[in-house]
Amino acid sequence: MRLTLFAGLCLLMSHFGSASQLICYFTSWSQYRPGPGRYMPDNIDPQLCTHLIYAFSAINSANELVIHEGNDETLYKSFNGLKQRNPSLKTLLAVGGWNFGTARFTTMVSTPANRQTFIQSSIKFLRTHGFDGLDLDWEYPGARGSPAEDKQRFTLLCKELLEAYEAEGKATGQSRLLLTAAVAAGKENIDKGYEIAEIAKYLDFISVKTYNFHGAWESFTGHNSPLYHGSHDQGDLIHLNTDYVMKYWRDQGAPAEKLRMGFATYGRTFRLNSTASGVGAKVSGAASAGTYTREAGLWSYYEICTFLQGTSIQWIEDQKVPYATKGNEWVGFDTQESYETKVRYLKDNNFGGAFVWALDLDDFAGQFCGKGNYPLISHLKKLLNTGALHSFIMVESNYNPKSKKVGTLCKM
Ligand SMILES: *[C@@H]1O[C@H](CO)[C@@H](O)[C@H](O)[C@H]1NC(C)=O
Repeated sequence: MRLTLFAGLCLLMSHFGSASQLICYFTSWSQYRPGPGRYMPDNIDPQLCTHLIYAFSAINSANELVIHEGNDETLYKSFNGLKQRNPSLKTLLAVGGWNFGTARFTTMVSTPANRQTFIQSSIKFLRTHGFDGLDLDWEYPGARGSPAEDKQRFTLLCKELLEAYEAEGKATGQSRLLLTAAVAAGKENIDKGYEIAEIAKYLDFISVKTYNFHGAWESFTGHNSPLYHGSHDQGDLIHLNTDYVMKYWRDQGAPAEKLRMGFATYGRTFRLNSTASGVGAKVSGAASAGTYTREAGLWSYYEICTFLQGTSIQWIEDQKVPYATKGNEWVGFDTQESYETKVRYLKDNNFGGAFVWALDLDDFAGQFCGKGNYPLISHLKKLLNTGALHSFIMVESNYNPKSKKVGTLCKM
């Protein structure tokens, strides 16, 4: 009787997949968006994600981890205060980002003493503000002005950070600080930047930025975050998709369970330059900037919902993602449907979870898309079944605390 019950539950578990992490980025500059676009830590639903990452912090000229925005320390308080409403929530602080560039990272990793200064300052800073870990967002070691030897120095940084975090955890009796990284999705940047198998030993998880594959810097339309390459892709273009990049990271030695696949809550836009409007159509730059995000080339999901009024969603069959076009504007984006295909892919490949860029680009207050709060991220949470491990443990202890067979049965 009991065995039958467990077999049933385990079937249910395998159907939904095992518990998996959902890591969500918060961006401090979204506080400056007008009206309903303004986004503050108080807008975050503390039950939505398993991990929250605050973007970004900086490195000063003395090689120390420091704030980036004037009011960061105020926002840190409300951000980390969210843990009072969800005690299992983990928070991390991201350092770097695209606009931060590489120079400060290069100087910081260049000597053992500089690295130790940074490492010790990070411990003090993270503990002072109540973060559970550090997310390295160096874009990128070995590229954009960073010299070739930064590839090996990045490995040393990861190794020494982990050693210091372990020592501090032991010495203070607190849980060890987490150490993670957000990494490149471009093959050339990956090859120049990371000793993959090495850094994977030191990082708790690795977030692969499987978006920004195509954008208005190119002369043809293409999707921001396709799952697969398209039939039109040739040469190096066949590398510009989620499937290729996730498998590249895995096959170079990052364990699948440590890899987090990137999900975008925004789309990338183009202005068509001919009557052609499919994938690969000629363009002359970006569509108009969004009313709220105010950055040419990118629209939040909630801005896309407005754009979709009066047009229809087209499906890129081979790449499993949608686009829409109206007038001479074109956007490739994600929906609940494309997330479903991607999560099935993520589970089929045993990747350890998903991360989202970013909380503030979803229809967080449900004011634009008519699908409730956070239509994309809450759908992703449901698809990932982030609560499964919790309910499994509950079921196990409620019904059959001593059985060894349960574990075996469930390892399907
Ligand atoms: C294409 O772009 C060129 C250069 O920006 C512009 O002069 C021309 O009008 C555009 N054509 C169309 C059909 O949009």
